[in-house]
Amino acid sequence: MNITLRQMKVFESVARNLSYTRAADELFLSQPAVSMQVRQLERQLGVSLFERLGKRIHLTEAGREVYQYSRSIAQQLDEMETLLADLKGLSGGKLRISVASTANYFVPNLLAAFHQHHPGVTVSLDVTNRESLLRQLADNTVDLVIMGQPPPELDVEAQSFMENPLIIVAPPGHPLAHQKKIPLARLQEETFLVREPGSGTRMAMERFFTERGIRIKTGMEVGSNEAIKQSVQAGLGLGLLSRATIDQELALKRLVILYVAEFPIMRHWYIVHRRGKRLSAAAEAFMRFLRNDAQPSA
Ligand code: PGA
Repeated sequence: MNITLRQMKVFESVARNLSYTRAADELFLSQPAVSMQVRQLERQLGVSLFERLGKRIHLTEAGREVYQYSRSIAQQLDEMETLLADLKGLSGGKLRISVASTANYFVPNLLAAFHQHHPGVTVSLDVTNRESLLRQLADNTVDLVIMGQPPPELDVEAQSFMENPLIIVAPPGHPLAHQKKIPLARLQEETFLVREPGSGTRMAMERFFTERGIRIKTGMEVGSNEAIKQSVQAGLGLGLLSRATIDQELALKRLVILYVAEFPIMRHWYIVHRRGKRLSAAAEAFMRFLRNDAQPSA
């Protein structure tokens, strides 16, 4: 069976009006065009839908059955139109976003500002590691991802929207704490705490030191930014972190930034989605918001 929505729509109008002329007026079509659509539908279905008694037309038994279906199809189409209109207006829209653990230090603020612009959008936020972000992108289970480096191994579109400087932190009493222009090589005398394998921060740190031929001593491997900060405060070593993670510790003077040559390592935050993905209106709006309203981090 090869019937079209257009045939069903024309038939619904003729059946409701019991008149080809009124249906033609309603649909802004000529009367022969309306008759042709109905004839084609009858041919496709293999039944007569109307019978003519004198000047009036009536639905056949099959016509009455098909009329029920045509009405429910018309209703469904109306519902779909309303829903899409709502989505385009963003009320009732949904944004599924997953972010790298380090991005968790600024993304809630961005989402709060976005929510003020678009209170009708429901947000589901997942904070996870890079490996899991890559899986979500590969499985197409997420609209947007915020990460420190777009994955070259996946076909994605990525836009940078904010700087992500990485800095070195120490406890306030550390001998290097108030020194200016610490040479990079001096870091070889220190021990560094490092994030878990798979962390974007750790990848960037290793690349930076390797490219410059600096061999740093690594101490404990620590699975989160919070744990790195605690361990640095406890005197277990230096930490290399995104600047966005340490606002509170700086304000409370629990950590200091070391002024090392060639620092900060300047990275960027990217908003990423699968290439060719049909983005929801809410996801489009969030990308626009990042482009136009997101403030660069300190
Ligand atoms: P993280 O940061 O994986 O170290 O939390 C994200 C990134 O920099 O890619």
